[in-house]
Order: sequence, then structure tokens, then C-alpha cells
Amino acid sequence: MLVGLLALGGCESSIDAGFDWGLPAGVEPPAVPADNPQTPEKVELGRHLFYDLRLSKNLNRACGTCHEQAKAFTDGFHRAVGTANDLHGHNTVALANVGYRSQLGWRSPMPDSLEQQLLVPLLGDDPIEMGMGGSEAQLLELLADDPRYVELFAAAFPDAPAGVSMVQLAQAIAAFERTIISVDAPLDRYLRGDEDAITPAAKRGWALFGSREVGCLGCHGGLDYASPTDAQGQPIAEAGYANIGLYNLEAGAYPDSAQGLIEVTGVASDMGRFRVPSLRNLAYTGPYMHDGSVISLAGVVDIFAAGGRVITSGPYVGDGRANPHKSPGIQPIDLNPEQRADLVEMLLALSDAGLVTDPGLASPFD
Ligand code: HEC
Ligand code: HEC
Repeated sequence: MLVGLLALGGCESSIDAGFDWGLPAGVEPPAVPADNPQTPEKVELGRHLFYDLRLSKNLNRACGTCHEQAKAFTDGFHRAVGTANDLHGHNTVALANVGYRSQLGWRSPMPDSLEQQLLVPLLGDDPIEMGMGGSEAQLLELLADDPRYVELFAAAFPDAPAGVSMVQLAQAIAAFERTIISVDAPLDRYLRGDEDAITPAAKRGWALFGSREVGCLGCHGGLDYASPTDAQGQPIAEAGYANIGLYNLEAGAYPDSAQGLIEVTGVASDMGRFRVPSLRNLAYTGPYMHDGSVISLAGVVDIFAAGGRVITSGPYVGDGRANPHKSPGIQPIDLNPEQRADLVEMLLALSDAGLVTDPGLASPFD
């Protein structure tokens, strides 16, 4: 097991006020671990490592291959495909605002610090993503022999002895990840007071989204529209987990490839419970859901309106609406076609064109 392999990121976190995060007024930067202060030089090193294909066994899977900027740091696949063509159980999670999250992965626990988490795709073998487990020494040697990295590591870690280490590599990639921030979508600007930032349809959709009858905000609140909220729309926990009735195989089972929290807890009622995903940048991040099994946002809204998904053909035939483990928060909602379109328009207004074009987040190798 990789967790705890390196002594990293376990320290107290705090806001690093010395770093220029470039955020709009009123938006707090993410917390950073005390042992990994944020500096521009470290972020620059991390950006190189994030996009370097040599961090994968077959030189074909950088972090930035699966987490591609143009797709808001996802890959467009239903489920991710690793360096040796292993099919991952899950759809690639978008990384915008990942520095603000304390729980990572479609079903916890993943290591909860970014410094630790990245060792899973880098070194893990179940499934193989980048496939570097056992090749750490060769990787460090390769970086130490590359004049560009010698310079980048020296600038990022000026007080450390010359050379490169896995701890430094992890700290730099994590520092880069913390700069992937998206808080300037049209809906953000509307909520900050710019009345013209979104269309009338998106405004109607926003009203529906937060209404009691439609109830999306109950699960999708907070900075990322991924936190459960109370009746006033205030977040009550950072992350939530729910079975939304996507499948109903025998006795409520989900397909073997991904069954949610139950895989971690063994508790029967955790069948099909997945982390509530962020609703930011959906224009770029399809297909949707933990297994990429829904192609369009209209399809997503139809599933929530029906109170679950009915599958009538293929290997997964079943009435997800009747899944015994479904969250009580998922019930049929009476929505006419205009209202459904308004909800889709509102969801699209959470897409941030600046994120996918920001040169500071782009590959340095292109
Ligand atoms: C083969 C494709 C692939 C590669 C390569 C890859 N990832 Fe991922 N990433 C995924 C998938 C799939 C998930 C969802 C994992 C899960 O929930 O089981 C994920 C999840 C994450 C998460 C958790 C985000 C969240 O909010 O849950 C982070 C952070 C992350 N990846 C960072 C990285 C970094 C850094 C690298 C490079 C060291 C990397 N990934 C390489 C596919 C990939
Ligand atoms: C009970 C909590 C809950 C409620 C209420 C809820 N959602 Fe979700 N939503 C989830 C969970 C959990 C997932 C992921 C499910 C999975 O992949 O198995 C999800 C997935 C999504 C996705 C796909 C995002 C992606 O990146 O894959 C969208 C879009 C979405 N919800 C929008 C909505 C809208 C619109 C509403 C209101 C009509 C709503 N949700 C109500 C919990 C909820």
C-alpha cells in the first residue's frame, strides 16, 4: 500500500500569504502544508513534472495526459486508461480547485494530501496508471541528468543539498496542483453582482437549482458545488457521498468495476455511494458520473428528474430509481422541457474559459 510511504504533507496547513495567487477579491487561497511553502519556482518545477511523459513507464502518460488543460484537467474518456492500457474503474476527476479539497477520489479514502495522492497514479499498480513503481531510482537519475531539471530543482529547493528526491518531486507537483484554481465562471461573476454575466435562462436555472422542489443545492453547494448544504444553502460538510440510483443489478448492486464506498467500508448500505462531484467546468469535462456512463448534461438532468436511471438493455438492465440504497434526496422531480434546458444552461454557466486557456497552467513542452 502506498499510503504513508513517504513522510509527506502530514504537517499543519495554513494559508501562504506570501504567494501571489492572483485571486479575485474575497476569494481565499487554498491552505498549504507548513512543510511545503508555495513559491513560484516550485510551481514552475511542478508544472514541468506534471506534463513530463517521462514520468510514465511507456512514456505516454504524464499527469497532464489524463488531466488535460483543454478538458479542464480531465481526459474525455469514460474511464481512464493507463500507460499499459489498463482500464481504470473510474472517470478522471477534474483538478480545478483540488487544493481546497480535503477528501480525494470518487470514493475515499485516497490519501488526503496532494503530496501523497500523486504517488497513487505515479507508483500504483492496481490499476497501473503511470507504472513507475519500482523505477523511482531510474526516474530520479533521469531528472538529475537533465540540465533543465537541475536548474529547476535548485531554484525550487534553494536550501536543500544538490540533487533530486521523490519528496521534492511530490512537493513540486502538489504546489503546481494548488494553482489550478477556477473561481471566475460567468455564474461566479453573476453572484459577485454582475447582472449581465449570465443569460435569463441560466438565471431561471439557478433559481430552480436552489429551490426546495428541485433540491440540487442540498448536495451540490459550497465553492465547488460539491458540498452538502443545509436549508439555507450553507455547507454543512466538505464532501458528501450518495447513491443516486444509476444502477440496480441484483438487490441494488452496481457493476463490479466500481461500487463506491462499499469497496472501502464493506458496509452494505454504502453500495453505489460516490463522492458528490464538483459542478464546475462541465462544458469541458464530459462524459459524466464516476464511470463516465452519461454522455450529456441533458441526460444528467433527465436522470435526476426521474429520480434515478432506468436501463432497458445490455448487461446492466435494471431500474435504478428503485435501488434500495438510493439516497432519500433523490426523488422524481416534476420538470418541463424548458426547465430542464434552463438547468443545463445554468450548469454551463459554471464553466470557466480562462482556466482552459491560462498559459500559466499549460504544458511547458508544447
Ligand atoms: C491514467 C490516467 C491518470 C493519470 C496518468 C493521472 N491521473 Fe489523476 N486521476 C485519474 C483518475 C481516474 C482519478 C480518479 C481516481 C479515483 O477516484 O479512483 C484521478 C484523481 C486524481 C486526483 C483526485 C482529485 C479529486 O478531487 O478527487 C488528483 C489530485 C490527481 N488525480 C492528480 C494526479 C497527478 C498529480 C498525476 C500525476 C502524478 C495524476 N493524477 C495522474 C486519472 C489519472
Ligand atoms: C443526494 C445528493 C445529490 C443531489 C440532490 C443531486 N446530486 Fe448531482 N450528483 C450527486 C452524486 C453523488 C453524483 C455522482 C454520482 C455517481 O457518479 O455515481 C452526482 C453527479 C452529478 C453530475 C455529474 C458531474 C460529473 O462531473 O460527473 C451533475 C451534472 C449533477 N450531479 C447535477 C445535479 C443537479 C442539476 C441536481 C439537481 C437536479 C443534482 N445534481 C442533485 C449527488 C447529488
